[in-house]
Amino acid sequence: MEIRDKGAVVSGAGSGIGRAMATMLAENGAGVVVADIDMEGGKETVERILAAGGKAVFKRCDVTRTEDLAAAMAAAVEHFKRLDIVCNNAGIGGEALFDDDPGPWAKVVEIDLTAVIDATRIAVREMKKSREGGVIINTASMGGLLPMPGSPVYAASKAGVINFTRSLAYLAPEARIRVNAICPSYVDTPLVRRAGDERVEEMKLQVGGILQPEDIARGVIELVEDDSRAGAIMRVTVRGGRDYAREIRP
Ligand SMILES: NC(=O)c1ccc[n+]([C@@H]2O[C@H](COP(=O)([O-])OP(=O)(O)OC[C@H]3O[C@@H](n4cnc5c(N)ncnc54)[C@H](O)[C@@H]3O)[C@@H](O)[C@H]2O)c1
Repeated sequence: MEIRDKGAVVSGAGSGIGRAMATMLAENGAGVVVADIDMEGGKETVERILAAGGKAVFKRCDVTRTEDLAAAMAAAVEHFKRLDIVCNNAGIGGEALFDDDPGPWAKVVEIDLTAVIDATRIAVREMKKSREGGVIINTASMGGLLPMPGSPVYAASKAGVINFTRSLAYLAPEARIRVNAICPSYVDTPLVRRAGDERVEEMKLQVGGILQPEDIARGVIELVEDDSRAGAIMRVTVRGGRDYAREIRP
């Protein structure tokens, strides 16, 4: 799909990877709805895009609320006349699995998996209405393909996103809607920095370095532009660059 003059929604675009995705989509000519629960970060992303001559609007959106997701997608139609690209990227870590309170790990599942399913459902419904197809890109993680002893609920949620995405490959021939996922290794964002400098150094040793948010945004551009990709799982790693996880044959 050519990106110029398309309408896009990026959740979690007030920071880190989502901000880079929104910025690069706008640089390529899309109008972007910057959707985030964080108004300050979201508005800053919009200001940066506008200052660079791009098109963007901010929509406050808590991805765990179906009505907020629907409103963010409606904003793309309202401001840019169309909804072609949806990046379900908002996500959190910090699960504290073995504490007494199940709240933190349940929140990880709610934001990192349930909300991605809900947003994909709404996007597919809207794209089917327009009959013009579209591209949905879900942010998973290398942690959805590999074990993460420190964050098992995060890993399970991202694995869920990966197989959910794979299972929707059939929407491409049926409705010209391509649902793909992107799996970054460690990326230098506030989410990772919250783990502390020492942990960041450990991550770099573990995987050979740390990615920049723009490395992931370039992957998103590839997934939007390459019409052959549906149900695809793109990995982005320091050692391997961008590649695709192999299909698992039954
Ligand atoms: N940073 C990494 O190393 C890394 C690696 C693999 C995958 N990821 C994934 O990439 C995505 C983006 O992460 P990041 O590193 O840019 O983190 P980040 O903390 O910099 O940005 C996340 C954004 O999501 C927003 N957000 C959180 N909860 C929300 C909600 N309920 N509704 C709407 N917005 C909400 C935050 O306000 C923030 O702006 C996440 O899904 C994360 O799991 C990150």
